[in-house]
Amino acid sequence: MTPAELEAAAARAFASEYGGRARIAARAPGRVELLGNHTDYNGGLVMAAAIDRHTAVVGRVWTEREGRVYAANFEGSARFPLAAIERGPVGTWPNYAKGVVWALQEALGVELTAGFEATIAGEVPLGAGLSSSASLQAAFAFFLLQAGVVPGGTVEQYVGEGSDAALMDLAMVLRRSENAFVGVSSGLLDQFSSLFGRADHALFLDCQSLEFARVPLGAPGPAIVVCDSKTSRKLADGMYNRRFAECNAVVDHFKARKGEDAVRLLRDVSLDELEDAWNDLDPTCRKRARHVLTENRRVEEGVAALRAGDLKRFGALISASHASSRDDFENSSAALDALIEVAEGAPGFLGGKLSGAGWAGCTVNLVEADEAEEFAEAVRHGYFRRQGVAPAVHVCRAADGASGRMLNG
Ligand code: GLA
Repeated sequence: MTPAELEAAAARAFASEYGGRARIAARAPGRVELLGNHTDYNGGLVMAAAIDRHTAVVGRVWTEREGRVYAANFEGSARFPLAAIERGPVGTWPNYAKGVVWALQEALGVELTAGFEATIAGEVPLGAGLSSSASLQAAFAFFLLQAGVVPGGTVEQYVGEGSDAALMDLAMVLRRSENAFVGVSSGLLDQFSSLFGRADHALFLDCQSLEFARVPLGAPGPAIVVCDSKTSRKLADGMYNRRFAECNAVVDHFKARKGEDAVRLLRDVSLDELEDAWNDLDPTCRKRARHVLTENRRVEEGVAALRAGDLKRFGALISASHASSRDDFENSSAALDALIEVAEGAPGFLGGKLSGAGWAGCTVNLVEADEAEEFAEAVRHGYFRRQGVAPAVHVCRAADGASGRMLNG
């Protein structure tokens, strides 16, 4: 489906839910994480790409000071007063929409200038490690900006030349929405990727300094092939926050040794320091930290490899990242490992790893562009033979970030 078709589907759902026409449309892409797994909330380095699978939000301004949202994928709706936004049950989609309004209002210190009626439609697989939730947040924020209900805010401030600083501020507002409202201790990666994406480019982010770069994937670039294991989980199910705590246990150890000011995040600890302290550290937590710190290194090498046009090296780093997730961070699963092992023997494979939080969902593979279809076929058959489940395989391209527009008519 093209983004325009997705918006059209959302507009039809809007008309049948609310009556009348949607006037405003916004969209934002999902993302794959290429390198730098679980580094973001540790102040580390990460590489990602926005992909051409989107969430669309369409709708119109409404006279009541209330948000009304219908989610076509779930056939469910939510209503909430702008003046008193309350979080619903953990893990339910309305929290993501409400959270965006809550965080924008909190950042600005004022309410939105009007309410709205909106419909969401998405084609980013849910709970699969492709950031369907961040694409919803980013599309929703652009919908509100395009609707003109954000005091002092317009879409123009966030697109085109000179807009990156504002876009980074917005990414942080959306992260706060996920941390403080939805209740997931996630880092900046997903919101950053959905907002900053660029066609045919990978994205680099230093989560401590917020330095970032859009790095060309080459011409012709490799295919980004996402393989969905058809196993799923919810981010709020506890494993993610447990890893966050395990990383922080190592930070606490170094704080006690080096002082509170010297170490705030795992990024402030070097691999050498970790190795020196190895025997004093909890056996589980030290492996988590080794994963994060070796990932930072792989990102540095990955950016250099991509800039040098060395896709083989870049792919090898991606595969090394998966091994580190599997062995040290223990956020892979039998299904994800099987998917990677099958991919390794498929035509055109350059490298592959789990994408995002882990434990279930998708792998992301870098594949020679002209072999992407053969690769996809081989993975479909190989995974089915091993697991007895047909995976969904998506051949993707790196895509542009969030955008908004008025609908004609
Ligand atoms: C999820 C989170 C991100 C990031 C990844 C793991 O996708 O939302 O912030 O932590 O997991 O790298």
